[in-house]
Amino acid sequence: MKIICGPASKPLAEAVAAQTGYPAVSVASKIFPDGESYVRLEGNVADEDVAIVQTTCPPMQDGRLFQLAFMADAAKRGGAKKVTAVVPYLAYARQDKTFLSGEGISVETISRMIKAAGIDEFLTVNIHSEPSLKQFPTPARTVSAIPLIAKYFVEKGHKGAFALSPDKGAMYIAQQAQTVLGGDCGHLNKTRDRYTGQTVQTADGLNVKGQTVIILDDIISTGGTIVGAAKILRENGAKHVFCGCVHGLLIGDAEKRILDAGVEEIVGTDSVPGNVSKVSLAPLISQELKGAK
Ligand code: R5P
Repeated sequence: MKIICGPASKPLAEAVAAQTGYPAVSVASKIFPDGESYVRLEGNVADEDVAIVQTTCPPMQDGRLFQLAFMADAAKRGGAKKVTAVVPYLAYARQDKTFLSGEGISVETISRMIKAAGIDEFLTVNIHSEPSLKQFPTPARTVSAIPLIAKYFVEKGHKGAFALSPDKGAMYIAQQAQTVLGGDCGHLNKTRDRYTGQTVQTADGLNVKGQTVIILDDIISTGGTIVGAAKILRENGAKHVFCGCVHGLLIGDAEKRILDAGVEEIVGTDSVPGNVSKVSLAPLISQELKGAK
């Protein structure tokens, strides 16, 4: 196997190549003056299985999806046998059903688009809704980075912390963290107005008095969910509040708003390279690719 280092995830892809021992194929990329994307594989992929590592987080998530498709096409044209897309953050994954009449299902559209480009298999990390992978036209799977994030907090001295999901539907995230943190776990309840996007969170009998609490979520976008959760935790007597997420998009001033809300540290992964990407996905992805081989 060879690892194609997508322009959106170059350091991560190089780390995966180093950890697996598979050769890295670098990619030349540029944006034309009119905004269109260009990529060129700088290595031979004939008769090889390849894994393209390319996240599709903001900024430029549409452009990054097209880069992924163009790299897959280039790999197939270059004679690659099997193309696996490794997409740590998959854009559009949250539109996984028609919430309102007249909507499409964006994640399914994306899955068909990348298959058409030449992708044979798909691997992502903490996709928002795992069942949506069943609708993909290629074999598709997701792996969880939550244990790695929890391990980061243990190494920082927070063994025994309370793992909290900000939403009942994501309780599995708190439970995965609990297995590493070793403390209690629980969830808030969150309801969202589908027209305004406004959310309401409630604690409903949660007991976190005097505890160190780590709020864990798959995605932080505007930060509203974490800010609301931190406020509730403070009102309920939590002593220390931290947060961990797989995909720290942190749009606009989200990071500042979360810290201003009393969260002591924000920890994310390199699915979204940036200030908070303190946990690398390279070991997780390497293990998956080695297992797949
Ligand atoms: C939604 O259900 C996700 O799990 C996250 O909780 C959500 O995307 C976070 O969004 P925001 O940071 O804008 O509140």
